[in-house]
Amino acid sequence: MLSIVEHDYGTPHRDNAKLVTLTIDGREVTVPEGTSVMRAAALTDINIPKLCATEQLEAFGSCRLCLVQIEGMKGLPASCTTPVAQGMKVRTQNKQIADVRRGVMELYISDHPLDCLTCPANGHCELQDMAGAVGLREVRYGYAGANHLSAPKDTSNPYFTFDASKCIVCSRCVRACDEQQGTLALTIQGRGFDSTVAASQNVSFMESECVSCGACVQACPTATLSENTLIAKGQAEHSVTTTCAYCGVGCSFRAEMQGEDVVRMVPNQDGHANHGHSCVKGRFAIGYATHPDRILKPMIRQKISDPWREVSWEEAIGHAASELKRIQAKYGRNSIGGITSSRCTNEETYLVQKLVRAGFGNNNVDTCARVCHSPTGYGLKNTMGESAGTQNFDSVMKADVIFVIGANPTDGHPVFASQMKRRLRQGAHLIVADPRGIDLVRSPHIQADHHLKLRPGTNVALINSIAHVIVTEGLVKEEFVRERCEAPSFEKWRRFIAQPYNSPEAMQEITGVPASEVRAAARLYGTAGNGAIYYGLGVTEHSQGSTMVMGIANLAMATGNIGREGVGVNPLRGQNNVQGSCDMGSFPHEFPGYRHVSDDSVRAQFEHAWGVQLQGEPGLRIPNMFEAALDGEFKGLYIEGEDIAQSDPNTQHVTAALQSMECIIVQDLFLNESAKFAHVFLPGSSFLEKDGTFTNAERRISRVRKVMQPKGGYADWEVTQLLANAVGYPMSYAHPGEIMDEIAHLTPTFTGVSFARLDELGSIQWPCNAAHPDGTPTMHVGEFVRGKGKFLVTEYVPTNEKVNAKYPLILTTGRILSQYNVGAQTRRTENNRWHAEDRLEIHPHDAEERGIVEGDWVGVESRAGETVLRARVTERVQPGVVYTTFHFPESGANVITTENSDWATNCPEYKVTAVQATRVTQPSEWQKRFREFSENQEALLKSAGAVAAK
Ligand code: SF4
Ligand code: SF4
Ligand code: SF4
Ligand code: FES
Repeated sequence: MLSIVEHDYGTPHRDNAKLVTLTIDGREVTVPEGTSVMRAAALTDINIPKLCATEQLEAFGSCRLCLVQIEGMKGLPASCTTPVAQGMKVRTQNKQIADVRRGVMELYISDHPLDCLTCPANGHCELQDMAGAVGLREVRYGYAGANHLSAPKDTSNPYFTFDASKCIVCSRCVRACDEQQGTLALTIQGRGFDSTVAASQNVSFMESECVSCGACVQACPTATLSENTLIAKGQAEHSVTTTCAYCGVGCSFRAEMQGEDVVRMVPNQDGHANHGHSCVKGRFAIGYATHPDRILKPMIRQKISDPWREVSWEEAIGHAASELKRIQAKYGRNSIGGITSSRCTNEETYLVQKLVRAGFGNNNVDTCARVCHSPTGYGLKNTMGESAGTQNFDSVMKADVIFVIGANPTDGHPVFASQMKRRLRQGAHLIVADPRGIDLVRSPHIQADHHLKLRPGTNVALINSIAHVIVTEGLVKEEFVRERCEAPSFEKWRRFIAQPYNSPEAMQEITGVPASEVRAAARLYGTAGNGAIYYGLGVTEHSQGSTMVMGIANLAMATGNIGREGVGVNPLRGQNNVQGSCDMGSFPHEFPGYRHVSDDSVRAQFEHAWGVQLQGEPGLRIPNMFEAALDGEFKGLYIEGEDIAQSDPNTQHVTAALQSMECIIVQDLFLNESAKFAHVFLPGSSFLEKDGTFTNAERRISRVRKVMQPKGGYADWEVTQLLANAVGYPMSYAHPGEIMDEIAHLTPTFTGVSFARLDELGSIQWPCNAAHPDGTPTMHVGEFVRGKGKFLVTEYVPTNEKVNAKYPLILTTGRILSQYNVGAQTRRTENNRWHAEDRLEIHPHDAEERGIVEGDWVGVESRAGETVLRARVTERVQPGVVYTTFHFPESGANVITTENSDWATNCPEYKVTAVQATRVTQPSEWQKRFREFSENQEALLKSAGAVAAK
């Protein structure tokens, strides 16, 4: 159902510079050519009755309610399907029109339950509204004839109900699933009176291909498809616009509220990243925010074998600060540090790094972006001059060839994937480079032109062989390179890449991708009018992650695919605020805005603003913190919103490091895996409980707005402020807007950003400053940020992680649509109905060789450790490659990943681990220890009585 809050203009906006002027009911209106009469009328506040039309979808013209009279045209055309014309004269009301509309409504109502008073849509039902709008007073046909009033309900989906008795067969749901989501799970089956909506081959929604995005629910004009929360709670009384806290798409939502209770989340049509669409996580999976597992009282303990003790905020903060000071006094200034998270707001992240640099007096601050996109920052900065993606999402609608490398958008970035699929259905070409058959390779009406099924760990060999074809077959955009790039760097790179050992024929032994396929893909990308590259962690999480990012940048520059719409290099950021956490200076070597701590003039600026002397030496990265901890030199850690014990590689190494520390302070919603090693627990706040901003994968800064009071008493930024004051570095922000003002003052790319500007513009893509007061949708237009683009030589160096007789398979990892990252949020929702455990995908040949069948327990052993997962036998993976997700801590995916990492940034090589897989009957030794330790920690938590009563 559409919300009361957004106006629906009936048909989509048309982008057209050519304007057309017409007259509607005597009012003159000027609109872009291609606009429907219905929309033109709505723009001048004439609302023509409608049922099958909605602004989100192309007009269909089935309900016949929107008929109008147009001078010179025969009959009564449907205003939703009739485009405007210059000089057109339209009448939307007269007796004839009114009679026809009433007749249409009469037919609808005669086959509709008359339970409006108890219907979940009561008050916001478009059918009800239209009955009123056309002045329906009686239904002459009565209600005794054939009807659908006893049609059964489908309650299989945990988040919404399909009540077929209320369906008017307007097909908005079907079109939403086709056009908006691109899943094509719904059809109208049967004809005439027997027409009904069916999921897939007439199975339940849960059994169908439906991915529970909710687009059909939002599109439905009646209560046929309704959110279960709406059915249970009734209509909201106010709404607040905020931003999804899950992935890097950064969808805008209206939280529809009853007081402090969320009734439902409705994607915002004005959302610049999502245009009214969403996925199952953002729309439905918010139950974690009020889950009884949340810890709402601060707790402390001396040792991790002690029970937790609930204490006041004053005591917890005082204890944490005195422990940090004690440790520094005993072990030195560099013995403590902080870790922030991509799940935190920009303002929170900024405060954590400020606390560490100014309050702790060192640069030992890092973020979880270390383990995902740090190579993106390094690679893009060094080639193009800015550590961020080059485009906005809408740019994909102008791409002719879309090249997806090491990313799985339909699972990881679902709303952007829907937009990408729309463009592909319009005819854009698709190249996918991935060891695994991701959904995008083949989906309804989409078939990749080339699926380059490379061996994990050979990305750089592949990108070099593609570039080799570009260089040796005359596909370089010489003019672009001459004008926009550094000539010596290009010549050096050209010589390197043209070497025969970089040819597809030479590299196919390494990559496993046939040379002919590489050549064809390279020609397709190289000759595209607009070629756009999208990549993910399948690029960065390698020992050559940074090299691969530079290889991608080289390729885009050589083919001139930078600096306009439809092209570019676009990292798909995993978590909601990966971009922002990097922008905010949470790496140990950089201040906000990617400025090195050793730069005296930059440091002087921060010293002046913060009133302290700052260190000019980079601090410890996360893996260095672990090393220093094991060496006895690093003893205290403040972790806000991150779960390093689950998400970092080589779990046993991480937990040993955590156990060697004297004070670990965890600020989080739940007793996560890291908190089980903590001495101080500070309750965190969910995105619903605080103000701030997130920055998505397009550099888009969007507001997060508080819809309820922090359940633990303080928003996260307030907790950091309390801690800063307690360690002796005063902070006195009254609101996160003041923190953003300070960020803007100190960060050249953020100069024009403020909460007021964000309220005014809806969202802003940085850089936003005097040169770009409304932000920058496309980067590097006319000139690269660094001046001239720089080509860098990207020699392929094989990873040290080699298969051998003992470990003959390569394990690679990824994520799934319904779960998110370490799963702390989504595991506490009904999303578990889709994915309740991590499984090991294994090719039928490898499975057969090992006597493994679907569902068997499989021991997966690497050089780092061993775990046990259940098998999923599938040809999605190629022989020799196994794959798993990492959303459940007991799966121990990171017990087996090694400590290999990117040469430049230490980003772990999660994507390549040599393993053996064998059929087993019991959990691994690590899993047994993990279970025992976790049960023990849960018991220590319960003894504190800290789990909030729900
Ligand atoms: S379920 Fe709703 S949107 Fe779909 S056809 Fe029926 S009334 Fe229309
Ligand atoms: S929830 Fe989404 S995927 Fe499922 S049927 Fe509706 S529109 Fe299609
Ligand atoms: S696509 Fe990402 S940002 Fe959008 S609703 Fe889904 S999880 Fe949230
Ligand atoms: S709204 Fe135009 S035909 Fe239904």
